[in-house]
Amino acid sequence: METILNIKEVSKQYNTAASSLTILDHINFSIQKGSTVAITGPSGSGKTTLLGLCAGLDRASQGSVELNHVLLDTLSEDERAAVRNHYVGFIFQNFQLLPTLTAIENIMVPLELRGEKNIRPRAMELLDKVGLTDRANHYPVQLSGGEQQRISLARAFSNTPAILFADEPTGNLDGETSEKVIRLLFDLNKEAGTTLVIVTHDLELASRTDRIIKLKSGVIIADEQKTYA
Ligand SMILES: Nc1ncnc2c1ncn2[C@@H]1O[C@H](COP(=O)(O)OP(=O)(O)O)[C@@H](O)[C@H]1O
Ligand SMILES: [Mg+2]
Repeated sequence: METILNIKEVSKQYNTAASSLTILDHINFSIQKGSTVAITGPSGSGKTTLLGLCAGLDRASQGSVELNHVLLDTLSEDERAAVRNHYVGFIFQNFQLLPTLTAIENIMVPLELRGEKNIRPRAMELLDKVGLTDRANHYPVQLSGGEQQRISLARAFSNTPAILFADEPTGNLDGETSEKVIRLLFDLNKEAGTTLVIVTHDLELASRTDRIIKLKSGVIIADEQKTYA
């Protein structure tokens, strides 16, 4: 089995003039390539912070993060961005679509950043996959929350990432849309072998993954691998 993510003794503090706040405290785990993992825990327990460190969006205060055999700790901002571009998809809690770009243009951004050619047809394929071809030229404000989430999914899929991080991807969605989004995620895992790391409050979604990591106050309090008979 190949390891795609290796987190060793990772801590994160936020320092203010008055105090230092520990958000993550000596976190250790590694994730196998192609597996699916849920991260759960109460609000404020550090889930979003941890996901950001794993994905190379932010840097740990201490410890090391190795993503797809690349040690992120000593990389510059730009070098981390390059690693993200090549290996990582990220679905943000609040979608983070660019408001001045249409749906199709939002999906094209990562492809453009990689300098790929002929990207519009590829973006249209992705739009089709999430069932929104008729919304190609809509701006984010013209889309419902569920539609924005599916555009954000298509954008995250566009570079066929080795690993996809999703921060509460179904948090704001109704049951039916939520099921659609979940199916797209697990399809990507099955079809492209994309490793999934999903932060969620949804116990039903968590139960569909291979492993559940529970956080509380910045520490791991449980790490349960599903066993198959
Ligand atoms: N930039 C920041 N500066 C100071 N504190 C922060 C910052 N970002 C997050 N925090 C704090 O870190 C803790 C964990 O936040 P977060 O990772 O968003 O938790 P979760 O996603 O589990 O709700 C919270 O107490 C939050 O207020
Ligand atoms: Mg969060």
